[in-house]
Formats: sequence, structure tokens, C-alpha cells
Amino acid sequence: MTIIAPSRATHFMVNGNPVDVAGPGGLRLLDALRIDLGLTGTKEGCGEGECGACTVLVDGMPVVSCLIPVGQVEGRDVRTVEGLAEDGRLDPIQAAFVDSGGVQCGICTPGILMSARAFLDSGAEPTDAAIREVIAGNLCRCTGYMKIIDAIARAATTAPREVRGGLPQVQRELPGPATRPNVEPGSDVRVGPAFARPTTLGEAYALLAEGSWRPIAGGTDIMVQLADDPAAADTALLDLTGIEELRGIRVDGDRLVIGATATYGDMRRSALVAAHLPALVEMSEVFGATQLQNMATLGGNVVNASPAGDSLPLILATEAVLVAGGAGGERAIPAAAFFTGYRTTALRPGELLLRIEFPLDARRQLRYRKIGTRRALALAKVALAVTWRQADGSAAWHDVRIAVGTVTDVPIRAPSAEAVLEGAVASPDVADRAAAAILLDIHPRDGLRSTAAYRRSATSRVLRRMILDAMG
Ligand SMILES: Cc1cc2nc3c(=O)[nH]c(=O)nc-3n(C[C@H](O)[C@H](O)[C@H](O)COP(=O)(O)OP(=O)(O)OC[C@H]3O[C@@H](n4cnc5c(N)ncnc54)[C@H](O)[C@@H]3O)c2cc1C
Ligand code: FES
Ligand code: FES
Repeated sequence: MTIIAPSRATHFMVNGNPVDVAGPGGLRLLDALRIDLGLTGTKEGCGEGECGACTVLVDGMPVVSCLIPVGQVEGRDVRTVEGLAEDGRLDPIQAAFVDSGGVQCGICTPGILMSARAFLDSGAEPTDAAIREVIAGNLCRCTGYMKIIDAIARAATTAPREVRGGLPQVQRELPGPATRPNVEPGSDVRVGPAFARPTTLGEAYALLAEGSWRPIAGGTDIMVQLADDPAAADTALLDLTGIEELRGIRVDGDRLVIGATATYGDMRRSALVAAHLPALVEMSEVFGATQLQNMATLGGNVVNASPAGDSLPLILATEAVLVAGGAGGERAIPAAAFFTGYRTTALRPGELLLRIEFPLDARRQLRYRKIGTRRALALAKVALAVTWRQADGSAAWHDVRIAVGTVTDVPIRAPSAEAVLEGAVASPDVADRAAAAILLDIHPRDGLRSTAAYRRSATSRVLRRMILDAMG
């Protein structure tokens, strides 16, 4: 187990250089880069994961450095915009931005360059849609996206993977520390959340028993909460991403088992998920932006229990089982009993969510739909999951379950709409009747992101569309 307290430094690689960053492991990677290492090319915009200005690569994956505690990169490979140019020669992606006029004020540029570099290195087909998706998590407020898209497309022709072979491994001189915030007045001690990285569940349970440690997985909820919290420096973060038992995706008998720290990116890339529960891949594709997909975990989404959490309707509709663990052993909690109120769950103090088990049934169909605003900040206004079974040779729907998110404090089933569909053969008339019936099931309140009237009408229309789409 690693505990990074003020007395201990975090050791990792930056652009080919080994570095040690002193201070608590709960300090942000962004601050470690900019302040301790003087790598000010990485910019801070929103500080909340929304603008992408702070994008760097960790082990080749684009992530937002404002939401990563530096302790999480212990022993890992970090690449920043300073690592792109080689011997004074611009990286082809940088040259393409200059040639295409893809830069004006430049605040967004380092983050976009890193997202684009990772995309080009992945060898993915540089279609217009793929490039737009790659930069969906990077906001630009002055250049406009057409020139940026043009620059990435241009670089794709001049810097394909086989020529560039990824970022250079050469060592570079680091500029050294700048001014140091997070320093206790009158002393040299850095203040920030303490950080522990256990590698076994036993170690994690022992720390949880002390009562002061808060679990962190992808950090995309908790780091945002801490950013606004004056007491953040007194928090102690218990990193779950080093624990083998919480990782991975596997099929176990008639269940698809997803470890609590599997990320949306992991689910999106998983052949097992695609083969057994493709709706989960579709959900992962519309979750946040690429950087967020590389960080955010399914377990974090479930335990955070926001009514707008993308996975909640799917978990409820599939009757997934949430397996919790603690010093006293494991227990299985049915989805219907897990979400107990606004952002509260059935987890007990000292317990962790270990894995999510989705029952598999080859005759069951599952559909998922979410309506958000902007792709990279796509908190759902409406999210629906619909599942049913069809007997061989029959078009009638049976054992229909509809789960709706965002309409109240917890995800709910829609019994009136389910009753319309039970035993019915999907048709435009049935779709109209189910769309009317679901209005009896949902009673949303006006919210920050949309009105109750909008949510009611959108939920009804989305259900109708899902039924029509299922008819093909
Ligand atoms: C820019 C941005 C875009 C976003 N877009 C979306 C979106 O499109 N859809 C959506 O649903 N959400 C979205 N979110 C919210 C967030 O990314 C998700 O809720 C995410 O799944 C949280 O996972 P995490 O691993 O980052 O959780 P963390 O922040 O690490 O943890 C969240 C909470 O769960 C607890 N926790 C985590 N894992 C465990 C565990 N195994 N056992 C016990 N407790 C645990 C933590 O203590 C914390 O309270 C977005 C957030 C940001 C900042
Ligand atoms: S500063 Fe905006 S995403 Fe990190
Ligand atoms: S160049 Fe100014 S925000 Fe993008």
C-alpha cells in the first residue's frame, strides 16, 4: 500500500523524465505540472473537467489533469504539450495547427493538441465524425472548430501512427518550480488531501474502518466536489484504482460482471460488453467526452447516485445486482433496493461497491436512450432504459421493464407504461398508448437544467421513439 502524506513525494515520469513531486497525493496533477514542475503549457480553464484545457496523456490516454490527484499517477507515464516538439521542430500536429490557422488566443490549444495526438497515435480512422468526437471535450471560444478539425485532418495525412510512432521518449529538461500555492502560511508544508493507494481489499477495509478516508475511483465527481469545498485539505482520499479485485469485465455463468473501477472507456472497448450487453456500449459512447470516459467508473456513477447518472436506469431495468463488500464479507443488493434517496445508497459505512452483475438472457432485448445538452457535458435531462423478452417466433413483448432517470430523486420504474406493453406487439398505436401512459408514472420537478414540463414531454416522446425504433 502507498500512503502519500505531506512528508512523501509522488514519483512518476513526465515527458520521459523521472520526477518527484512533494506534498500530499491528493493535490491536483495540474498543480503538480504547472507549479512544482514549471510546465505551464498545460492550462487551467474551468477546473471542473468541462473545458479540456488541462488535457494531458497518462499512459497514452487523454485525461483532464484538474480532476486527477497526483497520487494516482505514481509510477505512471505523463505527457504534456511540452513533450510534443522535438529538437526545436514542431510535432506535425502543432505544424498543422499553425498551417490551418487553428490557434488564436491559444488557451485551448495545448489541451486540443494532446487530445489530437492521442487520437492520431491510436491509428483510428480520421473521419470528420471521429475528429469531432475527439475534440468534444475541448472547448475553444475564439478560433471556431472548423480550422481545428481541418488541422487534425491535415496532421492525420502527414503524421500517421506508423511514421510518428507515438510521443518521443527523449528526456527533456524541466523548467523547475514556480510559485507554490497550497503552502501552509509561515511554513513549507503543502496542504491538500492525504492520499492512500491500497492494492488489496483488506488494506482498503482497514483504512475505511478508521472512518476518515473517502473512496475515490475516477475522481470525476469527488474532485469537482472538493474543488468547491473549503475543508478539502482535511480530506483523506482512498484510491480504489490499484485494487485488482475491483477491476475488469468478465462473463461468469449467466452474468456479465463489471468491476466497480471499470471505466466507461473500458466498457466502450470491451468485446464482452459488445457481445452480451451492447446497450452498455451505447451508454458509454454518449457518456461525457473522451477524457471523462477514460477516467469515470461505473462504480463511481452508481455510488454517486445522482438522479441524472447515466447508468442508473440501465441498472434498474436490467435488475442488476450490486455487490458490496466490507470487513464482514460480501452482500448482494438488488438494484431496486440500492438507491435509497437523493444521492444516497444502501451501502453501509465501511463498505465498498465491488462489482455490478448484469443478468444475461439471450432472448431479452435492451434499449437505452439519453437526452443531454452538450456532448462533453452531457448530464442527462432524460434517460430511459427499456427491456423485454420475446418468445421464439412471437412478436409479443413480455416481462417488460422500463426505468427512467432524472424525473425524481432516484431512478424509477414506469408501471403504467410497462402494463401497456406487456403482451403487446409493438406498433405505432401501442407506442402512442405507452407514451401517454408513462405520463402517469413520472412527476418531475422543475430543475436547473430543464423544466418539469419539458422532462415529461421529452420522456414520453423518447419512449415512443424507442418503441418505434425497436420495430425497425
Ligand atoms: C465534465 C463532466 C462530465 C460528466 N458527464 C457525465 C455524463 O455524461 N453522465 C453521467 O452519468 N455522469 C457524468 N459526470 C459525472 C461523473 O463523471 C460520473 O458520475 C462518474 O461515473 C463518476 O465516477 P468516478 O469514478 O469518477 O467517481 P468518483 O468521483 O471517484 O467517486 C464518486 C463517488 O462514489 C464513491 N465511490 C466511487 N467508487 C466507489 C466504490 N467502488 N465503492 C464505494 N464508493 C465509491 C466516492 O467516494 C464518491 O463519493 C460528468 C462529470 C464531469 C466532471
Ligand atoms: S481546467 Fe477545464 S477541464 Fe480541467
Ligand atoms: S484559441 Fe482561444 S479558446 Fe481556442
